[in-house]
Amino acid sequence: MKTIAIYHNKGGVGKTTTAVNLAAAFRNRGKRVLLVDIDAQANSTFATGLIKFQFEEDDDIKDKNILQVISAGDFDFIPEIVRQSKEFNTPEIDVIPSHITLIDEQQRLNRLAASRLRLNTKLQLVEDDYDIVIIDAPPSRDLYAEIALIAADYLIIPSDMKPFANQGLANVKNFVGEVNETRASIGKAPLHVLGVLPSKVMTNSRYLEYVFPRQRETALQHYGFPIFDTVIYERVVLSNCINQTLTMGKLEIPDPKSIFEFDSDSDSVKEFRNLANEIQQKIGA
Ligand SMILES: Nc1ncnc2c1ncn2[C@@H]1O[C@H](COP(=O)(O)OP(=O)(O)O)[C@@H](O)[C@H]1O
Ligand SMILES: [Mg+2]
Repeated sequence: MKTIAIYHNKGGVGKTTTAVNLAAAFRNRGKRVLLVDIDAQANSTFATGLIKFQFEEDDDIKDKNILQVISAGDFDFIPEIVRQSKEFNTPEIDVIPSHITLIDEQQRLNRLAASRLRLNTKLQLVEDDYDIVIIDAPPSRDLYAEIALIAADYLIIPSDMKPFANQGLANVKNFVGEVNETRASIGKAPLHVLGVLPSKVMTNSRYLEYVFPRQRETALQHYGFPIFDTVIYERVVLSNCINQTLTMGKLEIPDPKSIFEFDSDSDSVKEFRNLANEIQQKIGA
């Protein structure tokens, strides 16, 4: 089992888009995939079709999500919390959903050192059940991001390569350093940074010719992170597949799809296949 965290402390750079579609890419090549959402915004939970309800009384996630996994050491193990994505991909993937209530519980969990290690411990218990675990982390330098980076073997840092995202790489670097101290204290090897993944990259040819190569160079030279060869370009189809809806009676129901399910001939599908190939080469999965 190989565990990959998707993290950058900047929001809106394509972390969730990468997490869910990469999970689908690996699933489509027969891998047993678990997607873990540990962002209180629960965007991966939404994107995999688990939030089809419109009213809070229909919320079936509140008492069965990542919060329970990290709130207890001796119960609420992964097989009891996991569920299958809904009409997201063929085949579906396993998901540990997230929930907005993570926000309320952060202070309480923060006071307890043990809460940092529970996801790591509980993932080890299912290491024979999955080939790939992908963790969608929040865009912050907080407890939940720490839990994700402690549990992971590998890190992918999606970035649109623009100035703010590039400057944020200094924070990511410091944060990885801090997390590595905790990992050392539990006998875990340092986090293996697979690289910065250029994501949401504009397809404008002048930009690609003159600006993008320099931005890439900066990320490499200033921050010393490797950069993926694969580029996930900004494409309408990739935002459309998450925004699908179904009409049921008078209600519009969210009906998000993986890019593989939504448009299997799209350029984005090729990009996610390339990304899965590049990762497999790097980690030997
Ligand atoms: N490659 C892309 N092409 C087009 N839209 C994208 C792409 N990546 C992300 N988006 C859109 O940008 C927004 C933020 O992306 P998201 O993956 O949620 O970022 P993050 O998880 O880093 O906050 C979403 O509306 C998403 O649909
Ligand atoms: Mg996100």
